[in-house]
Formats: sequence, C-alpha cells, structure tokens
Amino acid sequence: METKVFIVEDIEKNLDYIKEGANVIKNGGTVAFPTETVYGLGADALNEEAVKKIFIAKGRPQDNPLIVHVANKEIDYLAKDIPQIAKDLIRDLWPGPLTLILNKKDLVPNVTLANLDTIGIRMPNDPIALKLIEEAKTPIAAPSANISGRPSPTDVFRCVQDLTGRVDCIIGGEKSNVGVESTILDVTCNPPCILRPGGITLEMLKKYNNDIYIDKAVMNKVEGDFKPKAPGMKYRHYAPKAKVRIVSGETKKMVEKINEIVHNYIDAGLKVGIMASYETRECYNKGEVIVLGKREALNTITPNLFESLRALDDLGVDIIISEGFEEVGLGIAIMNRLKKAAAYDIIYV
Ligand code: TXA
Ligand code: MG
Repeated sequence: METKVFIVEDIEKNLDYIKEGANVIKNGGTVAFPTETVYGLGADALNEEAVKKIFIAKGRPQDNPLIVHVANKEIDYLAKDIPQIAKDLIRDLWPGPLTLILNKKDLVPNVTLANLDTIGIRMPNDPIALKLIEEAKTPIAAPSANISGRPSPTDVFRCVQDLTGRVDCIIGGEKSNVGVESTILDVTCNPPCILRPGGITLEMLKKYNNDIYIDKAVMNKVEGDFKPKAPGMKYRHYAPKAKVRIVSGETKKMVEKINEIVHNYIDAGLKVGIMASYETRECYNKGEVIVLGKREALNTITPNLFESLRALDDLGVDIIISEGFEEVGLGIAIMNRLKKAAAYDIIYV
C-alpha cells in the first residue's frame, strides 16, 4: 500500500492536505494525524470496513474498542443518558485530553466499540485534528498511531516509522504537547471512575465530584482472568524492545540505587539507558542518559516519555532504567505508562 505523507506547517496554507486526508476518510481509508495527546490513526467511525483496516494496520486485538473523535460538543447522536457531570466536563474541558465513556446509541457499529454497550468519545485539542474531522463530516475512530504494543507516537516521524505501507495517509503537524494519551473517565457509573490516567488529572476531576476514583486495575498488575473495564488495560503496552526497570523513592536513594544497578549491568557487558530528570542528570556518569524533563514540572516530562523509550531503543540499549515519580497529579499518568513499559518491574528504595 502506498502511504502519502503530508506535513502541515500552516493550517491555512496547507488546507488542501487536510482536505485530501478528509477525502481518504470519506472513502473508507486510514489517516494518521496529530493530536495534543499522541498521534492517532483514524478512519470513519461509522464505516465498519474502514474501521477494520485500523485493527489490521496496528495488529490490534479485535476486543479492544476505539475512541470516537468529534469536532464539536454536540454528541447526542452518539450517546444517550448523558449525565450532568459529563455535560459540565464537556463544557469546561473539551477540546482536551479527556475521553468520556457513555452509553452508546446504535449509530456506531460494533467493530468500532468491540461489541460494548458503551462508547468512548473525545474532542481533541489540535487544530489539524479538528479540521480533519470537520472536513470528513463524520466522527473519526482513532487509537494511537503505533503498531500495537509499542510506545505511542508523539511526532510524525514515529508514525512514518511504524505505519508506512500500512495506512493510506499520514498528516504531520506539531509534536504532541501532552504526550500521554487522554484520561478516560467512565461516567456511566456513579461515582465516575478513571479507567486510564492522562493529561486531565484526578485532582482536576475531583472538583466536579470529590468521589471520582481511579480503577484499581490502573496502577497495579492485572492478574489471572480479572477483566478490566477498559479492555486495552490488560495488554502489555508502551513497550520498547529493551527491558525496562523503574527505581522509585527519595531522590538521593533513588540515584544511588540506579547507579549501583547500572554499574552491575555494564560490568556484565550490557548497554544501559537511563531515563533521568533535569535535576538528577549530573548524578549519572555511565550509560546513555536521557533527560525526560523537570521533576518540579511534570508537564515537561510527559511530552518526552514515549519518545525517550523509542530513542533509547534506537541507541540499541539492552536495558533501560527509569527514575520513578511520585504518584500525584501528572505523576499518576507517568507512572502508569512507565509501569506498563516495565511490565511492573519496579524497585522501591
Ligand atoms: O489520547 C487518546 O485517547 C489517543 C488519541 C489518538 O486520541 N487515543 C488512544 O486510543 O489512546 P487507544 O486505542 O490507544 O486507547 C483507547 C483505550 C483502550 O484502552 C480502550 O480499551 C479504551 O480506550 N476504551 C475505548 N472505548 C472504551 C469503552 N467503551 N469502554 C471502556 N474502555 C474503552
Ligand atoms: Mg494505544
């Protein structure tokens, strides 16, 4: 399959690229596009055959439902029984990194929603994404634009790497500035429940209902035949080729432990990558050190998280040791992604 790649530098000047992408969607094809969270791989959410192509391109399990992306806040045609809290969140936080799980109406086919009675809907905060959806005149189903199991792409280069020859079109825009996928909030239950932490934090959501909580499958390993509410949470995710380990705890002890582990691996002949922070970067003198961002401003860390995993893979490291982060605010989303990348291999010091 030939994959067209369009780089949109200026949304007005390059409107034709977006229109061409929208035509691909209208004709049942697949288009990767930027969003503020991660790049998405889109198809017409209402077209069964088109949606099937997404699953094939990504190698995604069929039982993992897709999020439906919209360009405006009017979603009555997609969902029913929309509770007041959902209306308030839509009013205040859309467009933005928040997916709401609602009771579905019958318009969206089962392939898109993996036979669930619910639908995940989100309005992305990216001008290219919004224009693409608007021009396609249909909601767009879009998972992250990576091959299943790999870290999500936060720039167009990574989409091209993963999806060339597998999709019809890739539209490039800015780097994703949130860098982790949207927060998924199930509002079909009371109190609402976070199924995946993301750019909209628990603390922000608690302002709407103080009882909102995080599903217990989010931060801990899912064992045996336990069925998480977001089917995607049971799969190994965000995994680079290298093995990942996390060391978490008080900064001084954490740095000491990481240095000890790194030295052992290097002595054993392995190539080691370290995911450090701005504050600690000088503390490591062996291995490939990548700075994620500032510990004191976690929104500088999230945009680099997935890219750092991929960049260390490119350097051919055998093992990646990442610093851990306190699980508050954006730290919850960061640790959720890191733990999955590490298959829960975490050392607390
Ligand atoms: O930020 C995002 O949400 C990105 C961008 C592209 O918008 N999309 C994304 O999609 O992360 P994906 O497919 O990688 O992750 C979707 C997650 C999966 O874990 C899936 O199981 C869950 O959302 N999900 C979708 N619909 C659901 C539903 N009706 N009920 C429960 N979980 C659902
Ligand atoms: Mg994904």
